[in-house]
Amino acid sequence: MARSTSSSRNGASDGSRRQQPGVSKGSASKGSAGKSNASKSNASKSSAGWLKEHFDDRFVQQSWQDGYRSRASYKLLALDEKDRLFKPGMSVIDLGAAPGGWSQVAADRVGPEGMVIASDILEMDALAGVEFIQGDFTEEAVLEAILATLDGRPVDLVMSDMAPNMSGMSAIDQPQAMYLVELALDLARQTLRPGGRFLAKVFQGEGFDAYLKELRESFTKVVTRKPEASRARSREVYLLADGFRG
Ligand SMILES: C[S@@+](CC[C@H](N)C(=O)[O-])C[C@H]1O[C@@H](n2cnc3c(N)ncnc32)[C@H](O)[C@@H]1O
Repeated sequence: MARSTSSSRNGASDGSRRQQPGVSKGSASKGSAGKSNASKSNASKSSAGWLKEHFDDRFVQQSWQDGYRSRASYKLLALDEKDRLFKPGMSVIDLGAAPGGWSQVAADRVGPEGMVIASDILEMDALAGVEFIQGDFTEEAVLEAILATLDGRPVDLVMSDMAPNMSGMSAIDQPQAMYLVELALDLARQTLRPGGRFLAKVFQGEGFDAYLKELRESFTKVVTRKPEASRARSREVYLLADGFRG
């Protein structure tokens, strides 16, 4: 069952941010059925371009050398260097964890006394020190599985790097992305210890300012970060909220 966010339950007025993703199968399949040969060839050119850019990327190359599963590790490493996110023994939740770049960093930093619970809609190969829950985070069952794994243990840091599959149409992508970070914030509010931290990837656009305002209501300090490994052209930024008010 798909979940509502606490903001939607509270009846707040910013509808775009709170609506659940509702791309109907009908409209999606209609678009692809009508694809011309020209647009297919453009698509394959752009995926070849994406692959070239990916393999030329210095963070991708660095991740092969360092044994990280994704270039995303370097975003978290940069954030940790600046904001000291981790300490040994901490409990951390990692949402949108696959293939596991952030979980690798988190598990290494919190050490054997710590706990990392990771979740993603995709499969993820096992990682030492990481409990992985596979499933769609918009489903109630995934929330329940995370809460059951925590078994009442208060959490020090909730992180979300979730991003929906982007269609390129912001009217579709932005509400889906905002819905995921709203749900991540709901989980943070349910599980963080007072004083705990929340880190989320958020896309600038419709709903961003209202989300920032919401964060400021639940946390004493919120900062925006754009680590070097985050591509300049991407609208993604990371919001780090500190001092959960409980
Ligand atoms: C940028 S990737 C995360 C990379 C990861 N942090 C790492 O370090 O390797 C975004 C992730 O969000 C996940 N995601 C998107 N929608 C989701 C959903 N509804 N539930 C759970 N995960 C989701 C995707 O499957 C994808 O793995």
